[in-house]
Amino acid sequence: MIKKIIVANWKMNPKTKEGAQVLLEAIKANIKGAKDVEVVICPPAIWLADLKAGGSMKLGAQNCHWEVSGAFTGEISAGMIADAGGEYVILGHSERRQYLGETDEIINLKIKAALKAKLKPILCVGEIAGEEMNVAAERQLISGLAGLSVNQLKEVIITYEPVWAISNAGNRPCLPDEALSAGLFIRKTLTKLYSRFAADKAPVLYGGSVNDQNDLAYIAQSRLDGLLIGGASLEAEEFGRIVKEIEKNENA
Ligand code: PGA
Repeated sequence: MIKKIIVANWKMNPKTKEGAQVLLEAIKANIKGAKDVEVVICPPAIWLADLKAGGSMKLGAQNCHWEVSGAFTGEISAGMIADAGGEYVILGHSERRQYLGETDEIINLKIKAALKAKLKPILCVGEIAGEEMNVAAERQLISGLAGLSVNQLKEVIITYEPVWAISNAGNRPCLPDEALSAGLFIRKTLTKLYSRFAADKAPVLYGGSVNDQNDLAYIAQSRLDGLLIGGASLEAEEFGRIVKEIEKNENA
């Protein structure tokens, strides 16, 4: 069975390094003892080297460049993230696709760069409002994973994030049944691209307005392998409750 993974996407928060350190320590205190769940904290990359994870808590970044180094003003390479203590990197988040013009092709290059630097890419896929889930997810998976071997796929985590459900953006949440269908569709697509065996082994997470009220539904009813949490990951107590609840459910 795949160990459950809970990813905290802090986005461009909090405002200061001190705030980040306080939040990380508060999360640590609130998840104390939880060792059967992998917790990945993704702060703004500028603080990666200052934050100390440890135990079942790992660090990740929210983006990387596809080149190793060079004339790319303002960018950070996957190797630099690894050097600063990051082990994961979120790639293809809808906010980067939407506001920073990231295409599936760019995301594919970034995934390859992340793998070369021994980071685990967390690839986000999902439809915008009005788009069909399967059309968007299939396109993003085919292009995002293009050229990756089955061995490389083993390092990749896929997250289903319906864009209309992120940060309570839409007028309704994503139902656990919809997350279930998306998860099954993602595995079906991975089966076509690789094999049933490889698809079953790939962790598939859900993200979009997860909180301590709906977290278990996405895990239990949607049969997914973890959660990617934005807003609620900035609330140490709530985030801690989610991690503990998921672990309790695993050990029940
Ligand atoms: P949210 O963000 O939990 O605030 O909806 C999730 C994400 O965008 O990663």
